[in-house]
Amino acid sequence: MEYLDAGDYTVELGGLLQSSFEQLLSRYNSAKKVIIVDENTHEHCLSYLITSFEALNGAEVILLPEGEDNKQLEVALGAWEAFTEYGIGRYDLIINLGGGVVTDMGGFIASCFKRGCDFINIPTTLLAMVDASIGGKTGVNLGIYKNQIGVFSNPKAVFIDTSFLETLPEIEVYSGLAEMIKHGLIHDKELFNRVTKQYDNLGDIDDTLLKDCIEVKRIVVAQDYMEVGLRKTLNFGHTIGHVIEGYYMKSLNLSHGHAIAIGMLMEAFLSIDHASLSQEDYKRIKKFITSNYEIPNFTDEAITSMIEMLRNDKKNKDGKILTCLISEIGVCKYDVEVSESVFLQTFKTFKV
Ligand SMILES: NC(=O)c1ccc[n+]([C@@H]2O[C@H](COP(=O)([O-])OP(=O)(O)OC[C@H]3O[C@@H](n4cnc5c(N)ncnc54)[C@H](O)[C@@H]3O)[C@@H](O)[C@H]2O)c1
Repeated sequence: MEYLDAGDYTVELGGLLQSSFEQLLSRYNSAKKVIIVDENTHEHCLSYLITSFEALNGAEVILLPEGEDNKQLEVALGAWEAFTEYGIGRYDLIINLGGGVVTDMGGFIASCFKRGCDFINIPTTLLAMVDASIGGKTGVNLGIYKNQIGVFSNPKAVFIDTSFLETLPEIEVYSGLAEMIKHGLIHDKELFNRVTKQYDNLGDIDDTLLKDCIEVKRIVVAQDYMEVGLRKTLNFGHTIGHVIEGYYMKSLNLSHGHAIAIGMLMEAFLSIDHASLSQEDYKRIKKFITSNYEIPNFTDEAITSMIEMLRNDKKNKDGKILTCLISEIGVCKYDVEVSESVFLQTFKTFKV
């Protein structure tokens, strides 16, 4: 069992049965417990949790509709209404069992209800294990605009048990690996090299690699929880990635990581002129990303809409688009101003 100190909570990496989960539940002995799942974690993960821990006998289960396009305020509203029906109070415990959509939305639902209930995250996708379940960002989308409504709010604990990955579809493993690639690209060239090798063994994620990727997130968030500086580097690939994800949400249903992978490729391209990334590093990133993630067919109409969406990016300031770029593999700069016309040109460059 690995214990990672994330400030006011701990991330435990190892089997849930060996973790301090049961001990934590005993602290909420008299509290009601609510487990938030989506359709897939209801099917694949819930029974293991409920049958393994007696304290969860009689827990209420809230079933959210699966997928990014359901990460919306109306769905959160439905959960709050159910909380009211179940008589949930401020001292009860919410358990988010799912991928990043469940941990983001469940954290938000818990944090806003009666001004805040305790919650814990049990991530069940690779992406949520290495990224979404840690760091305290919670929220929902506003239509096609990603994560526009939300709060910073930490879980009481995060329990990462990789046995949940056994039922995860391969496409979602690729999605999680994309965020691990990002951790390497922004922070550690050696880590990037190691993550690229994991693509040859999708069915057996290396625990040490997982831990080292989590460490990048943990270290960065510890230095800048509210994202006024360094934490912005975790958004590498996300300025473009988020508009791609939002725009294609209904039609292509790209995974989050897939959209971010394309965002990283295009932002690496921007990095050549705007952050002095070498052609050699860029070519390496391009070869790797294009051989693992397909670029959507950007029509003129899609490009126009996505450029419009960029104007609403959360990192923008004073009407300027600010993004993160890399000056080499492992080194990331933030708050780099890039004009709308340069983004437009970049989308046209990647038109296939
Ligand atoms: N808060 C943060 O810091 C942060 C960081 C990165 C990403 N995110 C957010 O995370 C979300 C993406 O997370 P995700 O990729 O986990 O998406 P997701 O939660 O939609 O999960 C992907 C798919 O896998 C299914 N699934 C989950 N666990 C499973 C299991 N064990 N077996 C079988 N199927 C399973 C889900 O039902 C879903 O269909 C995005 O909304 C993104 O914005 C947040």
